[in-house]
Amino acid sequence: MISIEKKTEQLNKIRDEILALKTSPLYKYRTENKYFPVIGEGNPDSNIMIIGEAPGKNEALTGRPFCGAAGKILDLLLERISLDRQAIYITNVVKDRPPENRDPTPQEIELYAPYLDRQIDIIQPKVIATLGRFSIAYIIQKFDPLWNETISKAHGEEIKVKASYGEITILPLYHPAATIYNQRLREVFFEDGEKLKRYL
Ligand code: URA
Repeated sequence: MISIEKKTEQLNKIRDEILALKTSPLYKYRTENKYFPVIGEGNPDSNIMIIGEAPGKNEALTGRPFCGAAGKILDLLLERISLDRQAIYITNVVKDRPPENRDPTPQEIELYAPYLDRQIDIIQPKVIATLGRFSIAYIIQKFDPLWNETISKAHGEEIKVKASYGEITILPLYHPAATIYNQRLREVFFEDGEKLKRYL
């Protein structure tokens, strides 16, 4: 067990390292636009960790994950299951905004992934809900490289894997942004996400 003070200290160290990450191809874009990196926020002791893809414009302007349109849909899910945002930990695979919300490149994912790996080892969640295909692709190759499914097949499936600190569950969810104009997908997102309740 790591104390919450120690966890906070270790997470702050990650924040400082990312702030100084001049080798990132996204660093220049960040500083030119006066953007912030989005490190993650919430309870470092939570059983539940939610991992998105990369910050959008609202997130880069504030330094907070999921505070724009996709975040509103994530908040609706959390409301439905009476889960307080402050009780969980929310972060992304890539910590800086890619220009014009383009997909993150494999090089960007590779560069930022060690920070995410450290966040997982510090927080030690019992369940990791991934949002969208980039997040599940990274997390599943890390914990279960032989797993081979698409998000459209695997969404809502509770996948048991071994983390460095014990058995955990991975719950792949659609990205809330994909559900903005698709009511049917939004219902699927809510139904799948309800499974998080069990890990409170
Ligand atoms: N989309 C993401 O994947 N992450 C955010 O923080 C916001 C939008």
